[in-house]
Amino acid sequence: MKVTNLDERIHVLDSASNVMTVIKDIALSGLQEEAFYVLDIGDIVCKHQIWKEKMPRVSPYYAVKCNDNLIVIEVLAALGIGFDCASKSEINKVLSVGVDSSRIIFANPAKPASHIRHAAAVGVDAMTADNESELHKIKKLHPSAKVVIRIRCDAEVAQCQLGMKFGCDPIYEAPNLLRLARVLGLNVIGISFHVGSGCRDPPVFYRAIRESKILFDLATDLGFKPYLLDIGGGYPGDKGTSIDKIANVINEALDEFFNTDAVHIIAEPGRFYVASAFTLATSIHSKRSVRGDENSPNSVTHNMYYINDGVYGSFNCLLYDHQHVTPIPLKKGCGKIYPSSIWGPTCDGLDQVVENIMLHDMELGDWIIFENMGAYTLPVASPFNGFPVPKVHIVADENIWHLLKDALPLTEDHFVIGNTPANLRLGLGISGTDTNAWRNSNIELTSSEILADVTNPPTAYIYDYLEVDL
Ligand SMILES: Cc1ncc(COP(=O)(O)O)c(C=O)c1O
Repeated sequence: MKVTNLDERIHVLDSASNVMTVIKDIALSGLQEEAFYVLDIGDIVCKHQIWKEKMPRVSPYYAVKCNDNLIVIEVLAALGIGFDCASKSEINKVLSVGVDSSRIIFANPAKPASHIRHAAAVGVDAMTADNESELHKIKKLHPSAKVVIRIRCDAEVAQCQLGMKFGCDPIYEAPNLLRLARVLGLNVIGISFHVGSGCRDPPVFYRAIRESKILFDLATDLGFKPYLLDIGGGYPGDKGTSIDKIANVINEALDEFFNTDAVHIIAEPGRFYVASAFTLATSIHSKRSVRGDENSPNSVTHNMYYINDGVYGSFNCLLYDHQHVTPIPLKKGCGKIYPSSIWGPTCDGLDQVVENIMLHDMELGDWIIFENMGAYTLPVASPFNGFPVPKVHIVADENIWHLLKDALPLTEDHFVIGNTPANLRLGLGISGTDTNAWRNSNIELTSSEILADVTNPPTAYIYDYLEVDL
């Protein structure tokens, strides 16, 4: 595929640059007024490496709904990952980059008829269902579908619960669905669940995998040959978080209940892959200093900062995804700190990003950075009140470029190397580059020129903004 729009290409950074210096360059260029994202491809590759190390048996199928940025999809496709799609248009997006339909699961248990017809037409066969009506619909519209019965097993604590909407009861409903599927002549290939997004109850995976095993046995008794266990999403993805505990529980449960290669284990991680890869830079366009109380009418008691992205844009995640965000001023503050609040740009009083925080005094044009903004932000954002959804500047270091430049669907054309008029820090000194740094046999690329051997696993993907002196 020929990439023509400069903004959509991956800018290869020289060794002196990183996400933070790019943000600084763009923000302080004097040319940038709008909020913008920097997407670090290395962060996504690093996450994949972690996934493969921690859960080698589990094949990830990225949940496109979490962030459908085309380069994200292309990078994940290049890494050999599968995809969880919720709709016809997500399926089309994934197919458009050349992913084979067999690498897609249509993991929406309540699908519009036309979307099922479309899945059948393009060869997406694996799909979930959690009710009788859906089974009848699938029988009518895609009779050769590979049906996965989604059960309910909720985490006791999760950022977003899903069980109230999806997943049949594993004891009272799932057996009847299996029997109905048998009567209808459908092909049930396995069981899926989603414990809730942003799961904070690792043992729930044990319970869900145990329930799945019981249903695998029943399905086998009924004459099916189940071979797919889909353990859904729920894995944290912010900087500083870890999937270790969840991975341990999953690995142990798989050993106990599915200790066979005959069962293929997949998962549908969303936020794990993208949350920390996206950093948002916003600027202050207006400020209101609330002054005084009765005793000192002239002193500032609270600063209200109005920035160029809000809850109708990227920060919709505060409302829909129950996220908490941490503002990081780009410029090191000094002097007194004030009780402050941060507001989005629209005329709605609901459009508040941070309610109450102590901050140094900032001025119009100052920038505020928000990390971990990759999950459930951009796909939901709207230009309400006429404020544009922030653009994404995509960067990768030289090692990532070496790793991915020939990994289909990525090609050389996806990368920008050397000096360009773009207001990004570029200029690549290729000589002396250590291309070993990203060589990892755990990562299977779709290209034949796969780099091999782990030498130095990447460590540096946590950025410390406080170190940046302006
Ligand atoms: C069916 C399904 N799979 C996967 C995901 C991704 O979940 P997470 O981002 O928590 O990994 C979701 C999120 O809503 C989902 O609905």
